[in-house]
Amino acid sequence: MAGMRFFNTSGPVVAADHYCVPPLARLELEEILTPVRQKRYFVLHAPRQTGKTSALLALRDLLNGGAAGDYRCVYANVEVGQAGREDVGRAMRAILDELADRARSLGDEYLDGVWPDILVKSGPDGALRAALARWSEATPAPLVLLLDEIDSLVGDTLVSVLRQLRAGYDRRPEGFPQSVVLSGVRDVRDYRIRASSEKELVTGGSAFNIKAESLRLGDFCAEDVRALVAQHAGETGQAFTPEAVDLLHEQTRGQPWLVNALCYEACFRSEAGRDRGHPITADALRAAQEALILRRDTHLDQLTDKLEEDRVRRVVEPLLSGGEKQTFSDRDLEYARDLGLVAREDPLRIANPIYAEVVPRELTYAVQAGLVEDVAWYVDTDGGLDLGKLLAAFQAFFREHSEH
Ligand SMILES: Nc1ncnc2c1ncn2[C@@H]1O[C@H](COP(=O)(O)OP(=O)(O)OP(=O)(O)O)[C@@H](O)[C@H]1O
Ligand SMILES: [Mg+2]
Repeated sequence: MAGMRFFNTSGPVVAADHYCVPPLARLELEEILTPVRQKRYFVLHAPRQTGKTSALLALRDLLNGGAAGDYRCVYANVEVGQAGREDVGRAMRAILDELADRARSLGDEYLDGVWPDILVKSGPDGALRAALARWSEATPAPLVLLLDEIDSLVGDTLVSVLRQLRAGYDRRPEGFPQSVVLSGVRDVRDYRIRASSEKELVTGGSAFNIKAESLRLGDFCAEDVRALVAQHAGETGQAFTPEAVDLLHEQTRGQPWLVNALCYEACFRSEAGRDRGHPITADALRAAQEALILRRDTHLDQLTDKLEEDRVRRVVEPLLSGGEKQTFSDRDLEYARDLGLVAREDPLRIANPIYAEVVPRELTYAVQAGLVEDVAWYVDTDGGLDLGKLLAAFQAFFREHSEH
């Protein structure tokens, strides 16, 4: 049937096609509008598939709609510059072309007409600055740029983009964008860029020290998860049992892609789940989780690929084997948290039970999943054995498994 919405598992959400939590409701709107009004440049970051792009696109439409003030807001995905690696010329050509094209599709053709000449005249290390200056001067409303996937750029290219943004900063808003949002997985402060043109390691912070602040997009709260499944129930009549809703939040801890993927699996792929006369149960979600893990979607692959990095393993391995002394630095931990592998809040743990099941399978040494993954349930506050908790947990385990 045409027009039926579903749980989206690829790319940004579109409200007409997908069940969704209103993307702007996921941000503290004032938290993002205030720096825009105050002409600040800032970072919006979150792990993969958290809803960054969905939020940026909604923000763009809000700013262009006039309700929040008079702005010309353009979203661009600078990932197009990634293939150029450290070839700044090639990357800059791709980025300017993307920017001009995005502006053109909003009805602003100015940049599209001028950037090739600017690139010739100013060269790759000046073209972005010059193009943004000329464009801002030619545009009556203050320009707001949303640059997505900023950390897909590397080395010289990233340094060049950051430095060019900084170079025009004092000319805003008449002669440079009023506000720039850089979006990616990491905070620019933490970029440690090995630029081949410079002998020293450049930190993102020093190339972009005009940045006012960093906002982080969080995961869904229990309320968001409930709202999402309620949309499905509202449109199809198929409800989730209360246990299923609880389990959905528990297993994913609200990670937006995981929530959608489990629901899609349970309601649209599973034979039984497609029968709208049957509610979705906790068991159906458990089966969906199993299928998801076996299928190894890109989301899980991208995550487990990171386990090849030493700094990630330094954080994750002791979490799985328990007890071992920790050898990671604060910077390592921050990185694992930015990736979304490790929960943001204490105690230190893998971000959600699904990742906790996938990660050990990926590590080269064999740690039995779940064996000592979470010690909190039998260790007291002094780090000693809590016999009461241990026995209670054993009783529960025995009740559940005694028939075997
Ligand atoms: N507002 C929302 N409501 C429901 N689901 C959402 C919402 N935002 C994001 N998601 C889920 O997260 C997935 C990724 O969304 P989006 O592409 O916006 O995130 P992203 O952080 O930009 O991802 P990437 O890191 O891949 O660029 C969607 O496919 C959907 O499953
Ligand atoms: Mg994105």
